Amino acid sequence: MKATELLKRQHDEVSAIFKGLEKGNGHSKALLDKLGNSLAAHMVIEQELFYPAVLAVKENLVLEGYEEHAVARFALKRLMQTDPSDRTFKAKVKTLKEIIEHHVEEEEEDMFPRAEKALGDRSEALCAEMKTLFEKTVKEGYENAVGRGGAAVTSASAPATPST
Ligand SMILES: [Fe+2]
Ligand SMILES: [Fe+2]
Repeated sequence: MKATELLKRQHDEVSAIFKGLEKGNGHSKALLDKLGNSLAAHMVIEQELFYPAVLAVKENLVLEGYEEHAVARFALKRLMQTDPSDRTFKAKVKTLKEIIEHHVEEEEEDMFPRAEKALGDRSEALCAEMKTLFEKTVKEGYENAVGRGGAAVTSASAPATPST
């Protein structure tokens, strides 16, 4: 399997979980846990394996990807701390879903086609590596995954606090 194929499958899984959460049919807590694990681990494998592999090809898109992940992790953390019975729950689901939908569209439309071209034969090996890291990250749990920023690329060139 190609690297971007694995990532697209995970995008589809996450999108299905969002649909379930929006319906709110009584399984929200279980779905929420599933969303936290899948989405956080998905971002980890992109941040730590996929993005570095395509950084040289499309630096602007990759740097934007890291920033969007940071925003998504923030919204995901807020959602994970909210009980499904809370009146803000649906608003938080919708906000995170919109952030993710926008981000996924940019990855699938712009980044992935260029990445596959650049990766060529290396794509399948990268996919295998990402699968292994995904499983390991899910096992280690949501808290560990959501705390991993993969910001090595951005923090290397940008100061932690803006200089005045
Ligand atoms: Fe992403
Ligand atoms: Fe993605």
